[in-house]
Amino acid sequence: MNTQTTIPALLSDRLRAATHPTHEQLDQSIMAAKPFESVENYGRFLAVQHGIHRDVAPLYEQSDLAGLFPGLTGRCRLEAVGQDLADLGLKAPDYDEAPATASPEGLGVPEALGWLYVVEGSNLGAAFLLKYAKKMGLSEAHGARHLAEPPEGRAPYWKAFKETLNGVVLNEAEEVRAIAAAETAFARVQTLVRRHLG
Ligand code: HEM
Repeated sequence: MNTQTTIPALLSDRLRAATHPTHEQLDQSIMAAKPFESVENYGRFLAVQHGIHRDVAPLYEQSDLAGLFPGLTGRCRLEAVGQDLADLGLKAPDYDEAPATASPEGLGVPEALGWLYVVEGSNLGAAFLLKYAKKMGLSEAHGARHLAEPPEGRAPYWKAFKETLNGVVLNEAEEVRAIAAAETAFARVQTLVRRHLG
């Protein structure tokens, strides 16, 4: 009997496996705060979303990443979250810190891949969140813009994103950095959850 744990062949699968427990924990802590029970609670969830999308926004402007992921700039959802807050008559949170991925030379590609994996992947789970938001009368045109499906559909977009991610050649040390960055990104969302939903 083979008792060895199989290491997935693709980086996207390794990222998924490495962050699975953290993602589970995050889902649970978000849902425990009942973000879809009232528009007031949902507003606090939007503050979390604003925080994480603000953290990654610099990556969507980084030229080396835009060269890897076609149309990356247009995928940034920070403006949509800002509009969602405005739809509900709410303001974006005040920040006394720089976005987590801001860096004068730009974030290293391995780290950027980890952060982008987390934030772009969250678009997949957003299908469920949009369904709940719609039950509260919100929609892709009001209050839940940032949860909208990408034009090509969630699954095709995610498949294409993962193909590009998996096509980037990383050595072992760089992969470790990418996975650590994905963990950092999830930990950052957890911090924002504690701040706004805790
Ligand atoms: C801002 C918070 C969140 C982040 C950053 C996030 C991140 C991610 C990532 C990276 C993936 C892709 C995993 C992969 O297949 O490699 C994913 C998928 C998924 N997420 Fe989340 N997630 C968040 C919140 C939630 C919440 C609150 C729920 C619901 C309880 C949820 C449910 C799901 C589900 C069901 C999938 C899989 C969808 C599918 O395979 O069709 N997520 N999320």
